[in-house]
Amino acid sequence: MRNSLRIGVFDSGIGGLTVVKRLLEAFPEGVSLHYFADTARVPYGSKPVETLRRYVREIFDFFTQLGVDAIVTACNTSDSILSQREKTELTTPYFSIIDPTAKFLGETAPDKSTVAVIATENTVKKSLYLRRLFRYESISKILQRACPLFVPLIEEGIWEGEIVDSIVKYYLTDLAKIQPDFLILGCTHYPFIRSSIESLLSPRTRIIDPAEYIVKNVADWATISSHDSSTVEYYVSGNIRFFQEILGRYLGKAENVRGVDLTSSGIALKERVTS
Ligand code: DGL
Repeated sequence: MRNSLRIGVFDSGIGGLTVVKRLLEAFPEGVSLHYFADTARVPYGSKPVETLRRYVREIFDFFTQLGVDAIVTACNTSDSILSQREKTELTTPYFSIIDPTAKFLGETAPDKSTVAVIATENTVKKSLYLRRLFRYESISKILQRACPLFVPLIEEGIWEGEIVDSIVKYYLTDLAKIQPDFLILGCTHYPFIRSSIESLLSPRTRIIDPAEYIVKNVADWATISSHDSSTVEYYVSGNIRFFQEILGRYLGKAENVRGVDLTSSGIALKERVTS
């Protein structure tokens, strides 16, 4: 029997589940996903970059201990703060979420396209989307907007309704009026409130979800040799029960969740919840 391909996926919290969902659709068989959610330390979006680097290094050490075959960054903020060198020097293949998205858009957008990027404060400050997109002549204008209240709201499990609509309006009304050709959901949490964002935008603005492009990249790279159904193990640094509730709501299945403390010496696996 062949072994499943082990893939480590991480985010500051529940946002990366939007990537997990697409990975499971792309790989119904042959993959074992190991999802780490740093829910004790979310949000990453406005924390000092040096602190985040330490967090991300801890997560990479954790994945090394798990023996994963690849690391998928389901976090635009982490992807933004790491240098290209840090990514290529890893012994495990690293999948960026920003690079394949910018490449797709740069290569397929019609001439003189305008692109809006909505993201966390750190992603906007580091401007990796902007730097990548400006390599392409098709893109004539890029706007960036940080939306720091989105992540805490989504982590709280509030994904629709009046509060969401009014915060979306607060951040995006001006941007929607500009009617960009494309709007990148530059934070993996944002697809949770996609319908509220969509309802504010003009129908001529196309929403881009970067999860689609990172998953395509993984699919191009992966060699699947097992026919066993794909599985997911979840590791959370914060409240297990709450994460489980969210999982049930979002993926309809809430099993294989365990607590993990990355800050103690070594990796301390805590309680494991299977149902
Ligand atoms: N979901 C993450 C991202 O894509 C991080 C959000 C946060 O923790 O602020 O940027």
